[in-house]
Amino acid sequence: MKSVVITGATSGIGLETARVLAAQGFFLIGIGRSVENCKRAEKSIFSDYPKAKIKYFTADLIQQREVLRVAGEVQDCLSENCDSALDVLINNAGCVRSWYTTTDEGYEQQFALNHLAAFLLTYKLLPMLKKAKGRIIMTGSKSHKGTKVHWADVMLHKGYNPLKAYKQSKLCNILFARGLNDRFAGVGIRAYVVDPGLVNTDIGNKNTGTLVNLIWTLRKRHGVSPAVPAKNYAFLCECDDPPEGLYYYLCRERSYSRQVTQENADRLFVLSERLCGISYNDLDL
Ligand SMILES: NC(=O)c1ccc[n+]([C@@H]2O[C@H](COP(=O)([O-])OP(=O)(O)OC[C@H]3O[C@@H](n4cnc5c(N)ncnc54)[C@H](OP(=O)(O)O)[C@@H]3O)[C@@H](O)[C@H]2O)c1
Repeated sequence: MKSVVITGATSGIGLETARVLAAQGFFLIGIGRSVENCKRAEKSIFSDYPKAKIKYFTADLIQQREVLRVAGEVQDCLSENCDSALDVLINNAGCVRSWYTTTDEGYEQQFALNHLAAFLLTYKLLPMLKKAKGRIIMTGSKSHKGTKVHWADVMLHKGYNPLKAYKQSKLCNILFARGLNDRFAGVGIRAYVVDPGLVNTDIGNKNTGTLVNLIWTLRKRHGVSPAVPAKNYAFLCECDDPPEGLYYYLCRERSYSRQVTQENADRLFVLSERLCGISYNDLDL
């Protein structure tokens, strides 16, 4: 049985993708930030697919110690149920913050959740992904275009703006996927980015101020159902031969920002290793 780990699998795009992959027979490991939402998601998938193989774990992925803790639980679950092999990791959890807010480590929260949590979780699960010649999928966004990584102040401590921070974090998703392919395609691991398009979810209504809340409430009405991007994840998970592209929208390869260069990908990789206190070289894959 193929296995998939999905972060942010309790609502929106992540929940719908979890439902589709559970229906298709994947052993699904979902990660969500609250016990209540994890229980609700699990119940909702079981009520549609009573024979689904599902396990949910709770973790606040904004905090690195929580990423490390849940990674240990996921590793144990994969060794008990899937012979320590992971076929797909979907780094999907994401947030928007109206104001400059930091994690316990002092990192800006959008950068911490939308990029660093994925960087650290992938590191912990990479040996199991290698075993399955697995795939890693980031939930990116078209909004990565028209921005750059602000290397001199990556946390945007000076002149924070929610959209600027969000766009930068989504550019980081593609740079990270590029960095993974540059390093690990040779051992059979492939990384991708799904651009879900504008999707009608509550992301901009969670932990945001009045203005961001109002703008998102008006904007999301034009969004598609999460079922639309869920097909794109299913496509990337199920193709027997790994697709060759990097960035996908509606199951087709698309162009992405010219900022996605090997130089920028390497620079982000080194910076992220430092911010997470890890070195991918230590994995000895
Ligand atoms: N909606 C769009 O138009 C759109 C467009 C482009 C890209 N995206 C990306 O799509 C991804 C999913 O977003 P969505 O639109 O589906 O929004 P969503 O419904 O709010 O989903 C976000 C998921 O992340 C979880 N999450 C949030 N903070 C977390 C934390 N600290 N620790 C662990 N999990 C956490 C949420 O948990 P709860 O259920 O408990 O809130 C939820 O499961 C994000 O990466 C977002 O940037 C969305």
